Amino acid sequence: MDQILFKRHRRLRKSAALREMVRETHLHPEDLIYPLFIVEGENTRNEISSMPGTFQISLDLLKDEIEEIARLGIKAVILFGVPDEKDDCGTGAYIDDGIVQKATRVIKELAPEMLVIADTCLCEYTDHGHCGVVEEGYVQNDQSLELLVKTAVSQARAGADIIAPSNMMDGFVAAIRKGLDEAGFQEIPIMSYAVKYSSAFYGPFRDAANSTPQFGDRKTYQMDPANRLEALREAQSDMEEGADMLIVKPALSYLDIIRDVKNDFNAPLVAYNVSGEYSLIKAAALNGWIDEKAIVMEMLTSIKRAGADMIITYFAKDAAKWMD
Ligand code: PBG
Repeated sequence: MDQILFKRHRRLRKSAALREMVRETHLHPEDLIYPLFIVEGENTRNEISSMPGTFQISLDLLKDEIEEIARLGIKAVILFGVPDEKDDCGTGAYIDDGIVQKATRVIKELAPEMLVIADTCLCEYTDHGHCGVVEEGYVQNDQSLELLVKTAVSQARAGADIIAPSNMMDGFVAAIRKGLDEAGFQEIPIMSYAVKYSSAFYGPFRDAANSTPQFGDRKTYQMDPANRLEALREAQSDMEEGADMLIVKPALSYLDIIRDVKNDFNAPLVAYNVSGEYSLIKAAALNGWIDEKAIVMEMLTSIKRAGADMIITYFAKDAAKWMD
């Protein structure tokens, strides 16, 4: 019988060694950024009920945590503060003994080589839970910028290596760049949450950080999940304003956006694999419905394949262990 002509793709899948040789995407522990929720108090390690395996931890327990993270080959953490006290202008975000400032000093002392990324936002520190100054029920852009600049400068002063503004006010990169430069922090890079959607996937994070808005929602500043071109406009203005790295957030429902931003901009790209994405997998895994390890590695690989250079993920420690 005549041989029909067709392409035998399976040739390259025949053995594990061959598959490994032609694999296009690789995960490394240094791709991962681990989020930490820091609380006041002592000897506190509260598991977040909607995020099993993720904890709010107090400063005195950071030593073991940071040692473990470093041992796993993870090079960076991103810090979120859970302060005891909140007020209408988020004072806790920019005071020198704010919870994130204190945690930054502790970590830099324990492990000077560990990169500390400070999430620069007000929502964890305001009593209304919004990311800026609220007047007449509306989050005020330019007034909020002043507080964000103060926050970024105080985080840099505490020793943060990277500033990651996540509040979605217009002009935050320009304002923070100018503020950092004027304070002598020309060398501190800005990892901008350039593309941040108004997403239901942040729900569990708001439990973890006690930052649920007390009225309304974040739709006047975070982006509409239906929009793609708007993401490119956001990324473009952040690049023009001086962002050194761009974040797209969330990750899984936005892999197309990650690819678009990667294709259009040549800055290092970070994807935020957010709390809701973590909780979905954890819940199914705890029920025994899925193979957690396989799903997590597939998910992280797809986020990298889509174009992310780095991934902020609550699975960072597990994934680093599984890579070993
Ligand atoms: C602060 C901030 C949020 C997240 C990261 N930084 C919450 C929000 O915008 O509502 C969410 C992260 C996650 O869900 O894992 N603004």
